[in-house]
Amino acid sequence: MAKFELKGKTVVITGASSGIGAESAVAFAQRGAKLVLSGRKLEALTRTKEKVEKAGGEAYIVPADVTKKEEVKALVEKAVEQTGRIDVILLGAGFGVLGLAENIPLELWEKQFAVNFWGVLYGFYSALPYFIRQKSGQFIIINSLSGRIAMPISSVYCASKFALWGFVDSARVELERYNIDIISIYPSFVMTDFHSRIESPDFEVPADLARKMRGDPVEKIAEKIVRASERRKAETLCTLYGNLGARFLPMSYYLAKVFQKLSLYFTLKVLKKKN
Ligand SMILES: NC(=O)c1ccc[n+]([C@@H]2O[C@H](COP(=O)([O-])OP(=O)(O)OC[C@H]3O[C@@H](n4cnc5c(N)ncnc54)[C@H](OP(=O)(O)O)[C@@H]3O)[C@@H](O)[C@H]2O)c1
Repeated sequence: MAKFELKGKTVVITGASSGIGAESAVAFAQRGAKLVLSGRKLEALTRTKEKVEKAGGEAYIVPADVTKKEEVKALVEKAVEQTGRIDVILLGAGFGVLGLAENIPLELWEKQFAVNFWGVLYGFYSALPYFIRQKSGQFIIINSLSGRIAMPISSVYCASKFALWGFVDSARVELERYNIDIISIYPSFVMTDFHSRIESPDFEVPADLARKMRGDPVEKIAEKIVRASERRKAETLCTLYGNLGARFLPMSYYLAKVFQKLSLYFTLKVLKKKN
């Protein structure tokens, strides 16, 4: 398959105000792409724009809340208005809910799905008509290893990410006839602000959890994302244990259960119970 050339292309990013989205913006700019940066926090988006410009790139800011479908539709329309096109949409906005399933209120389930699942779908259906019309385009979905391996104390987050896995693996093959790629990235722990923003009814989550778990630097994930885009690689499972886990754990119920019990034991050691 021919390489996807990023030079001169427009890349729209949700979740561009920090972490994986912000760092990916810089990596795409270094390949010559124009960026349209989105998130809710204007100040943080401005910082990303400055980093992109420092890297020699061009960036536009279009704030949007991904839980509001009209705002996401307007984001895509404004991206096309400002740059004349849309070639890639990286759907990276997300957050985590952590806790024992028995303690998670339904409102928190709804909030988790509103951002992690519906936020992605709104982006998908806003860009899809453009991609179909031009017979090319890329969706980049920032999933998680928790979307492939069911981890204890993460039932809500896992469910939101497993839902994305099912959706994109089904849609990917349908969209091949329009020359549209769906590129899924499954990070392990990444050193971003993600863990300090986790919402949990029953546990205190250390802000430096990713560092404690020897997580990946965010630059490494951004580079993997841009390379997956250039190579049109359908799926990137990060880390060796992520690769092994996602492939082998589903083959044995007992193996998966041993892994989950160990994971529950160690997670409970790292997290502090709220009073
Ligand atoms: N860090 C990890 O260890 C890790 C591991 C696996 C997967 N992931 C996934 O990677 C993605 C990015 O996370 P990150 O690590 O980069 O965390 P992060 O630094 O906390 O970034 C999250 C981004 O999502 C945006 N966001 C959250 N809610 C939003 C909403 N309602 N509307 C619009 N934007 C919203 C935030 O922007 P605003 O606050 O400005 O709106 C921010 O830019 C997430 O989908 C996460 O599930 C992360």
